[in-house]
Amino acid sequence: MAWPWLLPFGLFFVASVAQAAVVEHTFNVGNLSISQLCQPARIITAVNGRLPGPTVEAREGDTVVVHLVNESPYNMTIHWHGVFQRGSPWADGPAMVTQCPVQPGANYTYRFNVTDQEGTLWWHAHISFLRATVYGALVIRPRGGAGAYPFSPKPHREDTVILGEWWNANVYDLQQQVFLTGDTTRMPPADAYTINGKPGDLYNCSAANQTYKFPVRSNETYLLRIINAALNTPMFFKVANHTFTVVGADAAYTTPYETDVVVIAPGQTVDALMVAGAAVGRYYMAASPYDSAIPQGPPFSMTNGTAIVEYAGSAGEEKPQLPPRTEYNDTDTAFRFLSNLTALVLPGKPTVPLSVDTRMFVTVGLGNGDCQPKQTLCNTTGTRSRIFSASMNNASFLLPDAVSMLQAHYYGDAASAGVYTRDFPDWPPVIFDYTADASDNDTLKYTTKSTKVRTLRYNETVEMVLQNTRLIGKESHPMHLHGFNFFVLAQGFGNYDEAAAAPRFNLVNPQERNTVAVPTGGWAVIRFVANNPGMWFMHCHFDAHLDLGLAMVFEVQDGPTAETSVPPPPLDLPQC
Ligand code: C2O
Repeated sequence: MAWPWLLPFGLFFVASVAQAAVVEHTFNVGNLSISQLCQPARIITAVNGRLPGPTVEAREGDTVVVHLVNESPYNMTIHWHGVFQRGSPWADGPAMVTQCPVQPGANYTYRFNVTDQEGTLWWHAHISFLRATVYGALVIRPRGGAGAYPFSPKPHREDTVILGEWWNANVYDLQQQVFLTGDTTRMPPADAYTINGKPGDLYNCSAANQTYKFPVRSNETYLLRIINAALNTPMFFKVANHTFTVVGADAAYTTPYETDVVVIAPGQTVDALMVAGAAVGRYYMAASPYDSAIPQGPPFSMTNGTAIVEYAGSAGEEKPQLPPRTEYNDTDTAFRFLSNLTALVLPGKPTVPLSVDTRMFVTVGLGNGDCQPKQTLCNTTGTRSRIFSASMNNASFLLPDAVSMLQAHYYGDAASAGVYTRDFPDWPPVIFDYTADASDNDTLKYTTKSTKVRTLRYNETVEMVLQNTRLIGKESHPMHLHGFNFFVLAQGFGNYDEAAAAPRFNLVNPQERNTVAVPTGGWAVIRFVANNPGMWFMHCHFDAHLDLGLAMVFEVQDGPTAETSVPPPPLDLPQC
């Protein structure tokens, strides 16, 4: 009686195995000697001797296997930014959240599926500031290949366009100085913005080989997979005399959106079609900073990182045209772009959940606090009584150092005791006028360090209001959630007012993201379903703010089956 059932099951199994492939890479992380901006050659940390590192290309449903070989002098981890990691939480990568670091000379293999998402994601180091040079693209095409894109025209070619920041100094040393002294002014602004690792020729002394070139043919269509890999800077992105049709963001398709400027915060990606419809010639592609801080914070470099779009048949020497610059503080342009995107609703694709189990209201912003014991050079002069800090709901996050949070979670209450506490609050400890200048007072600003998580039941639906505060300064913080996409229901300025905002939630086609740039001095409302057991970091994607504690962790409990539970750790999981 049993065998007639076996046959169709067996056929199905063979068919699905034949479709999904294994995409395998070895990432040797090590020293790369490089010279930019007329500086003597110096050593950076990079993957396979390239900046940016290799692009991982997969189709939806594939398995990705990456062998990390750490030949660098630093502890290392790699995060697969935006990958859900369902069933593979040990491969997520943030140091001390899901794993201990891979020590110099050691290896670790990341193994995960890319399922239920298509478009552009990326990977980066998730420890200290090393992601400044350890990053690359992760491209997920439809199972049916490029012909199956739900947009038209189909591109003649696809290009990854990775925006970055370049420092002439060693970024690891800069981060250590900032940490040990508690003095954030030790982190100078980047010396250049880069496109695909190169600053372009608008900087003093950038040689011709430091400009990335995009060859195009008249009237062909290009799919630009734009990634903001900068540590601390949201960007305006333009190409002179060209416009874009945005078709995706954070590996989720969007309703086609026409624009001449793409706004992209650290952690985000944008897929945009660009038609080579201008006169044959050369045009700058330019990335310039969006500095949303009010009052203005530490200086940004007010320069353009550039690449050159070069038409077939152009002389190759003529000076390219530069696109009109977007003002560095043009919040109107940033908000217009970031709030106008909507999802492309596709049959069979989950959309926003309409009922909510848990509502959270979470302030995000800056503050101050005391020197920590490990900050051995902190406030040695005794002239500064407080150092910079950052927090969510006034809890300033501190990573554990003896064991990763996912290991502590997996081995149960005895293991997690002393590593983290389950008291991350659903509300700020004090309700105040979050965005008023008068609120910038010492009592509200003061935070203490803690390692708090918010525990969620498997499949619980969470709605979270992210409210920026005026403490120290308002700023558009790019808030990134690991392990999930969320739907962005609404965004606005000032203090969140539920009665006014809720009737205007987009519950039809809200954009789906893994990183939302909370408007400066404003708020954003997100929803997600906790359908992924594990420990999932949520944090500001400015590395400077992550280090200051602008973070928390969701602890999602196991579901009823083995498939919906955290699996045992891989045998090669690094130990601390
Ligand atoms: Cu791309 Cu936790 O980060």
